[in-house]
Amino acid sequence: MDRSERVAVIGAGYVGAVTAAVLAHFGHTVVLAESDLHRFAQLASGKSPIVERDLEELLRAGLASGKLRVVNSARDAIPEADFVFLCVPTPQGDDGSADLSAVKVVVDEIGSLLVSHAVVVIKSTVPAGTSVLVTKMLERPDVTVVSNPEFLREGSAVADSLHPDRIVVGVDDPAVARRVAELFYATSAPLIVTSPMTSEMIKYAANAFLATKLSFINSIATLCDAAGADVRDLIVALGYDKRIGFDFLSPGPGWGGSCLPKDTAALVRIAESFDFDFAMLRAVVSQNDDHADRVVEKIRIAAGGSLERADVALWGLTFKANTDDRRDSPAVNIARRLATAGATLRAYDPTVTPGSAALDLEGVELFSSPYDACAGAQVVAILTEWDEFRNIDFYKVGELMTTPSIVDARNLLDPVALRAAGFAYSGIGRP
Ligand code: UGA
Repeated sequence: MDRSERVAVIGAGYVGAVTAAVLAHFGHTVVLAESDLHRFAQLASGKSPIVERDLEELLRAGLASGKLRVVNSARDAIPEADFVFLCVPTPQGDDGSADLSAVKVVVDEIGSLLVSHAVVVIKSTVPAGTSVLVTKMLERPDVTVVSNPEFLREGSAVADSLHPDRIVVGVDDPAVARRVAELFYATSAPLIVTSPMTSEMIKYAANAFLATKLSFINSIATLCDAAGADVRDLIVALGYDKRIGFDFLSPGPGWGGSCLPKDTAALVRIAESFDFDFAMLRAVVSQNDDHADRVVEKIRIAAGGSLERADVALWGLTFKANTDDRRDSPAVNIARRLATAGATLRAYDPTVTPGSAALDLEGVELFSSPYDACAGAQVVAILTEWDEFRNIDFYKVGELMTTPSIVDARNLLDPVALRAAGFAYSGIGRP
């Protein structure tokens, strides 16, 4: 039985590029629309615009089989599509709420072009009530709007999309829900069909819960530091409790990225709009801010008590490993705080080329190897959990530094081995 459908995906950011590549891999005929000319040209030539495991291979396979086509305007993608996925960005607005401008522009543009009985699928993260808003804006009674939130993580986006934990379809019409669910027939993920409002809330609740877990474990790590306990053993003991589990409990320099900070801020605003003070989530957000200060404090102590003119090497600048994304990166956030306190910063990240005009890294000298970055430094601060930092020659590092001292904000290294090699070592929540 041929289950191939005609799909348009609007927006080739993280979610759009991956969704298009994966739907083409499932056998659907997909047209991906990207208005940014540079990104469009990259995609059309089979290049992934982002560092993301397996994405380029999947894009190339789709282009080669003819199942995937890339165009540079939504107008060219819509007329032949029975399903239109909206994957445009919804950044944080000035008041913390999600900015829906890009969604509204696309909806205006596509309204009259949609084929009869098309289904518009909102994958962008949008506040509860947006599906209803888009339905009104479209003025197309023959078209159904569906909420289908995305749960992929950067760094494992393709695997997460091929094998999702669940698929959520928010629509009141069961027949349309079946049609959307069928698009994902190749996965065996549990399907949750619910109202659009609930579906939109599910996405925010998931990211807010993950942020809560992280702020919780970072707070416990702070307590472990104070008490002389080891957070790593504590996590193993927590994790074996099936009600808690092991995932998302690694302490670090704080949580960041393009999603958790924006979605937690948006959920606080959504709650306010319903006259509910989500005090717990506000505390989760402010804990993350305080936590960055605590990491800076560890670096100050490691630098001998003052950051003024201290030479600090930063290893890792992306918000986590296996991506080139630095949006709302805890590493960049900490770099800014160190620079404000007067530190001299030298940095290495495998995805950042020295000499690149990276605006967010102004005042940070960039190097092409971790060794070059730490030459003459008083402290090395490990801020992103890149695997290569586990396999460093620390005897060489010790010789290059003025005072061998490590702040391991990702708990990657073995303190016993490092101390034996002459380093002062400070992790997060471990003696
Ligand atoms: C997050 C969610 O995990 C995805 O499910 C969701 O689809 C996505 O947002 C989104 O809304 O689009 P992502 O932004 O890729 O995914 O990043 P995460 O893997 O959630 O990491 C967020 C931050 O938490 C990073 O700074 C990471 O380093 C940190 N983190 C994560 C920890 O410090 N410890 C952990 O154990 C896990």
